[in-house]
Amino acid sequence: MTARIIDGKARAAALRAEVATGVAAFTAAHGRAPGLTVVLVGDDPASAVYVGSKGKATTEVGMISATHRLPADTSEAELLALVAALNADETVDGILVQLPLPRHIDSDRVIAAIDPMKDVDGFHPVNAGRLATGLDALVPCTPSGCMLMIREALGDVTGLEALVIGRSNIVGKPMAALLTAASATVTIAHSRTRDLAGHVARADIVVAAVGVAHLVKGALLKPGACVIDVGMNRIDAGDGKTRLTGDVDYEGALARAGWITPVPGGVGPMTIACLLANTLKAARARAAA
Ligand code: GUN
Repeated sequence: MTARIIDGKARAAALRAEVATGVAAFTAAHGRAPGLTVVLVGDDPASAVYVGSKGKATTEVGMISATHRLPADTSEAELLALVAALNADETVDGILVQLPLPRHIDSDRVIAAIDPMKDVDGFHPVNAGRLATGLDALVPCTPSGCMLMIREALGDVTGLEALVIGRSNIVGKPMAALLTAASATVTIAHSRTRDLAGHVARADIVVAAVGVAHLVKGALLKPGACVIDVGMNRIDAGDGKTRLTGDVDYEGALARAGWITPVPGGVGPMTIACLLANTLKAARARAAA
């Protein structure tokens, strides 16, 4: 079997086009475009790249993009004051504080300070709790994007065995919640799991989100499995350069899986498209409140 590739780039382009249509209607109805504000503290180069692509994608769908770049020695109090100002700003529909934050800042405290209605990352405990209890919520962008790709590949996932590898608040836990809500039978594996190979062998759906290059070997997969690779690991390419690779042994998985997402070009573009969709959703909810 050669796995079919789930084209995240193409699926993301379709979602962005859908969002752009919604943005145009929102702007016509309310006399202003939805606004997304990104806050970046410090000068982590990878974060700066992500923040740049988020800003570009935001303006391309017709929304207003603002970025606050703060120095690495910004105090927690200063950051909390900025969040409070953005909460109070009627033109700001979405607030995204790029993680990781410098070590002297308590990320949990900053996330909890964001107005849950503007929490387009879906990281606030109110949104996490709403997702966990089946209420309408702003859902974290990466797992949302993964779920859209799983739906595109498999359609209905009722009763299927789904394995989520990784238990972060950003990906693993919300991914498990989305799959559970979709009536899959969900297992969460993590660094302390004893028999990862046994779990992988049983899974119809594998979502790998641990940040360990090539952890999931192709030969372990159940034939025909749908494999979603969230990993973004920078490894030595052998020629003095580096390259991005996933948590899945892609070549091995191609020969055994039914569906697979490439890295890059799989989950990454979907995450940004889902961020735009969340911002439109937040703008609509605030306008209706
Ligand atoms: N850093 C890496 N991924 C993310 C994300 O999805 N949201 C935020 N805020 N920071 C991140």
